[in-house]
Amino acid sequence: MDADTSRRAFRQIEEHPSMTVTEALQTRISTRAFLPRPVSEATIRDILDVARWSPSGGNMQPWKVIAVAGAAQQAVKGLAMNYPGMLPAEDGDRPMYPANLWDPYRSRRYKIGEDMYALLGIGRDNKPARLRQLARNFEFFDAPAALFFVIDERMGHGQWAHLGMFMQSVALAATERGVASCFQEIWGTMRMTLKQHFRIADQDMVYCGMALGYADPEAPVNKLRSDRASVDEFARFHFD
Ligand SMILES: Cc1cc2nc3c(=O)[nH]c(=O)nc-3n(C[C@H](O)[C@H](O)[C@H](O)COP(=O)(O)O)c2cc1C
Repeated sequence: MDADTSRRAFRQIEEHPSMTVTEALQTRISTRAFLPRPVSEATIRDILDVARWSPSGGNMQPWKVIAVAGAAQQAVKGLAMNYPGMLPAEDGDRPMYPANLWDPYRSRRYKIGEDMYALLGIGRDNKPARLRQLARNFEFFDAPAALFFVIDERMGHGQWAHLGMFMQSVALAATERGVASCFQEIWGTMRMTLKQHFRIADQDMVYCGMALGYADPEAPVNKLRSDRASVDEFARFHFD
């Protein structure tokens, strides 16, 4: 066992004995309102230091991360301001959802949106208020820090899945440290602008953002709880 690997085992036992993986999975939610309390660079480094132990096919580790806070984060918010009154749409051939979404996915997507707007008291016809809430994404919901997940465009579906595993690891490691998060695929609608802004390599692309911070426990939007299909709805067991 090399030094790095042994540190890994050690850290698990020493530092965070109180939360199990199950608890982290069940308590992580998409947080959409944050306290002004900052998240230190050290904490974010620590989260990434744990998440890097995510598995990936061929151990390719096909993830890259850009972390922002303070003035750098403000600058990113400023980019989004260049879209007054409308939302950006630079996702090109990588739209967030397939066209003409079908059930059960369509209904699930619809339900979580309606549940959120209902919690916020925003009616179905109140398009301006819905758009305003959507646009809060581009303020990172006031989170004091954010991540962008970047992948080489040449990667295939396998590596995309591995990036997703890494992202979930980031969310769980954050949860374990009391840091709330919200994945933000919507930043992909600005990926060309972000690419130029961060001067990322030609072949790389921003897939997804992530707001990071401490949850505002009083905010109504943070009372939103999404549901999940039961195991029997998505799994088949052939055990005999
Ligand atoms: C990759 C990914 C991207 C997401 N992008 C957004 C987003 O742009 N804006 C947002 O408000 N929520 C976003 N979400 C949050 C989902 O809506 C949320 O995970 C889902 O409704 C389940 O709720 P939960 O995270 O609270 O369990 C995203 C989630 C994932 C996994």
